Amino acid sequence: MSGAVNIGDLRRLAERRLPRVIFDYIDGGSDGELTLRENSRIFDRVMFRPRNAVATSPCNLRTTVLGTTLELPFMLAPVGSSRLFYPRGECVAAAQAGAAGTVYVLSTLSGCRMEEVKAATSGPAWFQLYLVGGRDIATAAIRRARVAGYAALVVTVDTAVAGQRERDLRNGARELVKGNVREMLPYLPQLLTRPRWLVDFLGDGGMMRFPNVVLPEGGPMPYEDVAAALERSTVAWEDLDWIRAEWQGPIVIKGVLTAQDAQHAVAAGADAVIVSNHGGRQLDGVAPTLRALPEIVEAVGNRTEIYLDSGIRRGSDVVKALCLGARAVLIGRAYAYGLAAAGGAGVARAIEILRGDVVRTLRLLGCHEAKELDRTYVEWT
Ligand SMILES: Cc1cc2nc3c(=O)[nH]c(=O)nc-3n(C[C@H](O)[C@H](O)[C@H](O)COP(=O)(O)O)c2cc1C
Repeated sequence: MSGAVNIGDLRRLAERRLPRVIFDYIDGGSDGELTLRENSRIFDRVMFRPRNAVATSPCNLRTTVLGTTLELPFMLAPVGSSRLFYPRGECVAAAQAGAAGTVYVLSTLSGCRMEEVKAATSGPAWFQLYLVGGRDIATAAIRRARVAGYAALVVTVDTAVAGQRERDLRNGARELVKGNVREMLPYLPQLLTRPRWLVDFLGDGGMMRFPNVVLPEGGPMPYEDVAAALERSTVAWEDLDWIRAEWQGPIVIKGVLTAQDAQHAVAAGADAVIVSNHGGRQLDGVAPTLRALPEIVEAVGNRTEIYLDSGIRRGSDVVKALCLGARAVLIGRAYAYGLAAAGGAGVARAIEILRGDVVRTLRLLGCHEAKELDRTYVEWT
């Protein structure tokens, strides 16, 4: 792992270990992938304005989110189906988040039981909620999350339907999960040419189910039902009323891109919002999040905490988002590549790479506290 110098290196290692269908599931975006590309490119448009000849050792990266102190200004975003990338993927990633002193956000659509994921981390964990399966199933999940000790509920609001990920269609993602052997056949070679992954996958029980979406008949939702279930799971602002009644802790709204939605979220009682376009996996053609951030900071920055995700691949990206008003950021693919490349060691390496970048960037900027970053350290080009 020490040979991986940046997140791009971890991405290449993930590509080598994973079958095409799974690598592309992580790596890809929706439709023409315009937003996916812009999410990272936008960081190149922001340049630093350093203050040189300033003593900055040691550097303090701490920040607080919802009253909890984090050792790092970045958290691990909810990434569904992580168990397909690496055995017990969600537990493995959560453990590394805890070891690094940051939050792990568990997706509703994960392959490990939420109680086991919480037990796997020494740090705080948040539960990301999709209303898959409807209100009763979601209510049961919220109650379980509370008993298991999750500290916040993250309600994702940008998934009215699943985005069309063209790579998944071409790679036979649907055929492979439906389990009809004749339909699967053309797509099987990609699995057979990745024996290391295949052995791990079979050793971990083969095709995962969703143990945090428990159907009325009592069993976990099978994988093949997820697309249809997502179609029926649109969340509306009014849903926040009953969600709030079930969950007395902090609520974070994920998927805010405009001042208007940020105001809706605050009016609905959100304790924080995540400026996110789902990593370019939902509505293609929406603005990159760094572009949307200032408008949201202006609208609700004095009333709620604001985090940002989508496109972060370097520690300097983290710093730029903090300068433009995010209190913390979340990383998705950056750690998912590490998990897929080498399990816990890969997630640890991803975190270490970003942590090192952030420290170096702060020192070169002449700022010794992540909390002190502000707009005066950057300019748009
Ligand atoms: C493979 C994958 C699965 C994801 N699954 C979920 C999910 O289940 N729930 C959710 O709210 N967001 C999900 N996301 C979005 C992430 O939480 C996050 O918003 C996004 O990855 C940030 O962009 P980045 O990957 O460029 O860092 C997923 C992202 C990826 C890459």
